[in-house]
Amino acid sequence: MTSAQMQSEDASEVDDEIVLRVEDLTKSFLIQRRGLSRRAQYLQAVAGVSFDVKSGQTLSLVGESGCGKSTTARCILRLIEPTSGNVFFRTPVDGTNQKGFVNITEANDADMQRVRRHAQIVFQDPVASLNPRMTVEAIISEPLAAHGVGNRSERGARVRELLELVGLKASFAQRFPRQFSGGQRQRIGIARALALHPSLIILDEPVSALDVSVQAQVLNLLGDLQSQLGLTYLFIAHDLAVVRHVSTEVAVMYLGKIIERAQRSELFNSPIHPYTHALMSAVPIPDPDVELARERIILESDIPSAVNPPSGCRFRTRCPIAQSPGVCSEEEPELREHSPGHWIACHFPQPEGLMILDQNLATAR
Ligand SMILES: Nc1ncnc2c1ncn2[C@@H]1O[C@H](COP(=O)(O)OP(=O)(O)OP(=O)(O)O)[C@@H](O)[C@H]1O
Ligand code: SF4
Ligand SMILES: [Mg+2]
Repeated sequence: MTSAQMQSEDASEVDDEIVLRVEDLTKSFLIQRRGLSRRAQYLQAVAGVSFDVKSGQTLSLVGESGCGKSTTARCILRLIEPTSGNVFFRTPVDGTNQKGFVNITEANDADMQRVRRHAQIVFQDPVASLNPRMTVEAIISEPLAAHGVGNRSERGARVRELLELVGLKASFAQRFPRQFSGGQRQRIGIARALALHPSLIILDEPVSALDVSVQAQVLNLLGDLQSQLGLTYLFIAHDLAVVRHVSTEVAVMYLGKIIERAQRSELFNSPIHPYTHALMSAVPIPDPDVELARERIILESDIPSAVNPPSGCRFRTRCPIAQSPGVCSEEEPELREHSPGHWIACHFPQPEGLMILDQNLATAR
């Protein structure tokens, strides 16, 4: 795709329901120059990520800290420039009732303006993302003013409507962020994201900074807003427990790559990749007897550096069943469709549960 706008013949080949298509996205950061040669060193934060998100659905991107989730989100909205790849986003075409794809990675200023109106992001830290010196009204009406929507009193009315939509009182408009709890601040962040009637919201760990009881309330709010407003979500989280009830589809990321992707129930009922098995074993089970009896897969060591990722399979240095030396250290496993809609990148898929050999038991239990 070379033009900024997907051509109509290309668009017609794409599933009508797709709102966001990410194709082979990469992002490398130049981090430092070392030694006499001062050779450039790159950290590959995102290493060829592809997925679609359909209208009204939620794709959850899950993985440990540092695996590239936020970098993927920032590249999608071009808050940072991707190194390569394409991001297609379907937005209403101004002045018509049609919808067209914008290739965000090549979009001009006018197209980016349209993208910024219809795609929003909510960040993890509700304290850092709200300016403490601005009133709630000023914070929520900021995107309206930036896009020239309404006059001051119309924007004020929209702010009050949005506050009520996210479960806060309209009278809170003149308060400052410090007068609210963490959960209420996140609601303000969500209200700001909704101000311009977006179709897509990227939620980058929206509940990770909140207490567990408040997490559930905010997740319920996000679910209600999705059904009420027909929103499409890209939901980012570092553990599977959080996304269990909010996802339509789940993509598991490891060191810059998606290693497993499936519909929510398929992934939770039949995980296949050893890394997903490990993440799954950390998800609490409500029944205390089952919880006590089950085996946990403890992954040794931290996620390796993305400056020098392991050869072959990037997970091999922590995988309890790696053949290394062997195919796991020599050949990078491709993301392949194991069964309809269930994608795996592993030379030894484990659909029956993780079969850990005796010599590798140190990593289990
Ligand atoms: N501006 C930057 N310059 C250099 N390296 C960066 C930059 N931003 C991110 N990184 C690195 O890219 C990798 C991916 O970071 P990213 O923030 O996307 O991870 P994440 O999955 O969102 O993690 P977390 O769960 O901690 O938020 C990390 O190794 C991080 O240190
Ligand atoms: S390819 Fe090998 S190292 Fe990678 S997850 Fe599969 S078994 Fe483990
Ligand atoms: Mg992050």
